[in-house]
Amino acid sequence: MINFPADLLQLLKKAERIAVLTGAGVSQESGLRTFRDEQEGFWTQYKPEDLATPEAFERNPKLVWDWYAFRRETARAANPNPGHFALAQIENHVPEFTLITQNVDGLHRAAGSVNVLELHGNITRVLCSKCGEYAQTWGDDSTSVPVCALCGGLLRPDVVWFGESLPQAELQKAVNATRACQIFFSIGTSGVVQPAASLARAAHANGATLIEVNADPTPLTPSVDFAFHGKSGEILPALVNAVWGAD
Ligand code: OAD
Repeated sequence: MINFPADLLQLLKKAERIAVLTGAGVSQESGLRTFRDEQEGFWTQYKPEDLATPEAFERNPKLVWDWYAFRRETARAANPNPGHFALAQIENHVPEFTLITQNVDGLHRAAGSVNVLELHGNITRVLCSKCGEYAQTWGDDSTSVPVCALCGGLLRPDVVWFGESLPQAELQKAVNATRACQIFFSIGTSGVVQPAASLARAAHANGATLIEVNADPTPLTPSVDFAFHGKSGEILPALVNAVWGAD
């Protein structure tokens, strides 16, 4: 049983504009590794930061393709957990609700969230690294990277790699929601990758109440109004129940 402060419950009940930023921690209870966790099997020898870059793809496209192919299959096999479902429920209670995510696994939409901004793309989509055309299907002969049917360029995942710019329309909407919100949640993110991480601080500077839900303290923790440290799949459903349970 988590004891949520009464003033927080009141604030949430009355809130009309809430923005949420999520990171890999939200999907941890769905069986997906976070970025700072050790990777699995063959992939333990690599650091995600060394594979998720345009330079890595240029150097060894097959290695990077295979890593994403492995992660795409893992994401496809995963199901949303109670944390994802709790966020979808909050959206039903709040007039303006924006879910900004750094996750590429698509699990927020799978849980029923509608107003989702995917700042780092979506691993289930594949596009041509040369002409930008999306590919719905591709051959996989296991020896080479599949190529674009239109121009022959190498296919790649539709995710944002380190050093690449974020989708501008999504980022602008995220900034707008951050400016407008009364309450901002930072959930399951280590808060070290920009510009996503700066959104929480911007919301706070703008007068929003800042709430952190994370397994461990983060660099953001000293600045938040309320911090709950534990599993988002346990804390978020309990919070939803405490605020809207009787509705
Ligand atoms: P990280 O792996 O950096 O951080 C995940 C956070 O979730 C950590 O602070 C964990 O303590 C916390 N955590 C783990 N399990 C949790 C649980 N069950 N409930 C709540 N919190 C939990 O992931 P992100 O912050 O998402 O970027 O990483 C940000 C970006 O850096 C990623 O989108 C990716 C990465 O490298 C790109 O690929 C561009």
